[in-house]
Amino acid sequence: MQLDVFTLVPHAFAWLTEQRPVATVLGGELDLRLFSYRDTTPLRAGQVDDEPYGGGAGMVLRVDVVAAALDAAYGADPGRRVVALTPKGRQLDQQVVEELAAEPQLALLSARFEGFDERVVEHLSTDAISIGPYVLSNGDLPAMVLVDAIARRLPGAINEESGAWESFSSELGGGLEYPHYTRPPEFRGWRVPDVLLSGDHGKIEEWRREQSRRRTVL
Ligand SMILES: C[S@@+](CC[C@H](N)C(=O)[O-])C[C@H]1O[C@@H](n2cnc3c(N)ncnc32)[C@H](O)[C@@H]1O
Repeated sequence: MQLDVFTLVPHAFAWLTEQRPVATVLGGELDLRLFSYRDTTPLRAGQVDDEPYGGGAGMVLRVDVVAAALDAAYGADPGRRVVALTPKGRQLDQQVVEELAAEPQLALLSARFEGFDERVVEHLSTDAISIGPYVLSNGDLPAMVLVDAIARRLPGAINEESGAWESFSSELGGGLEYPHYTRPPEFRGWRVPDVLLSGDHGKIEEWRREQSRRRTVL
């Protein structure tokens, strides 16, 4: 998958690219490209934002700046879904992640300040996505959330079994994952459930499905 991120701080993504699962698929299943709006801005001195019409606090990321960045990367037609990250977008969940991870190419637009000139969302983007009902200072963390969530759905990113049996997976009916335990079997009197030590794989699977169901309805 070719995943492009348009941002004002490409270097902020350095940490993410060193971490698994992104690092695992980078250069293979994932071609992650980072574009800075400042590199292609048509304005002088790297300007990318401006005061809001009608007055008010903060600066707005200009539509001509975002258009120039997209034009430089793709020409007239991006030929892919272009996702504006905004608290006003469709809320991200695992279904949206699966949908986006199935795209061969995808672009993510991050903003700062007061956000995008609305024409970016209306005319330059195909989707608007929010990572939750709260406001962050910029779209870089939301973009990283999406890059990570998408990367772990790409072939070879994680152990296939753990990907199939995690929270929100179809194996668990879209429910939450069952609890995990490891050694020691008892610590401060807190015992690991006996069934997990029984070696009976049928019973263990039954117990895990039941735990998943219980957690999901709570
Ligand atoms: C300070 S926010 C702008 C908030 C905007 N003035 C509002 O009230 O909706 C700056 C940028 O951070 C990003 N952002 C902040 N919270 C977000 C969220 N929950 N989901 C996705 N992007 C978010 C967006 O790119 C947004 O344009």
